Amino acid sequence: MDIGIDKIGVYVPKNYIDIVELARARNVDPNKFTIGIGQDKQAVPQPYEDAVTMAANSADSILTAEDKQALGLLIVGTESSIDESKSSAAFLMDLLDLPEDIRSFEIKQACYGATAGLQTAVDFVSQNPDKKALVIASDIARYGIKTPGEVTQGAGSVAMIVSQNPRVLKLTRKSVYMTRNVGDFWRPTFSKTAFARGKFSNEVYVDFFNTLWKKYQEKYSATIDDFSTLLFHIPYTKMGTKALRTLEGKIPDTKYAELTEHYQASIKFSREVGNLYTGSLYLGLLSYLTNAAQSNEELLLFSYGSGAVGELYSGEIQAGFDTIIDQNSILKMLDNRQKMSIADYEKMYQIEYQNGTIVDPQAVNSKFYLSEIKENERLYKKLK
Ligand code: CAA
Repeated sequence: MDIGIDKIGVYVPKNYIDIVELARARNVDPNKFTIGIGQDKQAVPQPYEDAVTMAANSADSILTAEDKQALGLLIVGTESSIDESKSSAAFLMDLLDLPEDIRSFEIKQACYGATAGLQTAVDFVSQNPDKKALVIASDIARYGIKTPGEVTQGAGSVAMIVSQNPRVLKLTRKSVYMTRNVGDFWRPTFSKTAFARGKFSNEVYVDFFNTLWKKYQEKYSATIDDFSTLLFHIPYTKMGTKALRTLEGKIPDTKYAELTEHYQASIKFSREVGNLYTGSLYLGLLSYLTNAAQSNEELLLFSYGSGAVGELYSGEIQAGFDTIIDQNSILKMLDNRQKMSIADYEKMYQIEYQNGTIVDPQAVNSKFYLSEIKENERLYKKLK
């Protein structure tokens, strides 16, 4: 049975900051941020947006009434969840008007969460072929104002429906994975911002990619000629570039040139949005599908979550995928965003809603939003 991604949609907040302006405000040469880090814009969420609201927005962009009735599993991958007990998935039941006979939960393993969700969903559909699964990656990446990681922030969500006979990406079920206890990135429960050993994280990431690519070749007698495209976890686009560059000189120049050209198409959206943490690989997939992909292409996807878990797996783009993805709406969503000044971004960054907050819907620019915090419980609404 063929199983994989049948639909994929995205949500990004409606405000962004310009990376050149951020560089100037931090007295940094803009080329460091645009070339050295590889970013152009960074999504800035409103205080009434969080992993739940963004997940609702991305899922709402792809779910039909028919999909909802067929759902048997809902998984939210996030490392910026809003409750230590209740999963983001439970909040989505009302917001998305989902039927009750669904198994739902949240998965956390840094930026690997969505891939864990996707692979779990594939297993679920193989056992329940008449059912679909909804996997959502949703995160706000925060390192703090004036930190080295500030330029690698971002926010957004990617939602995927997994089913049999997928119309976007068939997963070949060829996959290799690994876990090591590594201290490259962590966020203790008391902190809204992450702690990272950024350069060390880069080294571990590249090492995981190389180790897994070797394992994949051995396990499946594969060569680079089996693939036209490599997609990477891209919290900032330079990170994937570093892994890709390790292949230079080890594979034919023409193949390296092809992979590099396709990689550029896969990072277009990330350059505009920034870090989606666990959604980053899937924003890259969507960027590739929107900007360059061809039917029947074989892709290799590298997922990495600090801490650290890595997985390298393959998929095949399905004929007609371009009729399933709402490319115009996605491009419009990115184009229609409003730029925010660095001063306004800094001000908004400090806002943290407390118990008793009631949000005025007139001031909201996202369909799903945090409406109130009552008895320390976060309550959500959909704009009428
Ligand atoms: N023009 C062009 N390039 C320039 C430049 C200039 N004027 N000045 C510097 N550069 C280049 C540097 O040469 C460097 O390039 P290379 O990496 O190719 O050597 C690049 O710009 C960055 O320069 P630095 O290393 O000096 O920058 P930095 O000290 O500010 O650190 C960083 C950069 C490590 C990425 C830092 O921003 C950081 O710590 N970010 C947060 C950590 C992070 O995102 N880690 C990823 C974790 S994995 C993940 O996704 C997390 C997860 O699972 C949860």
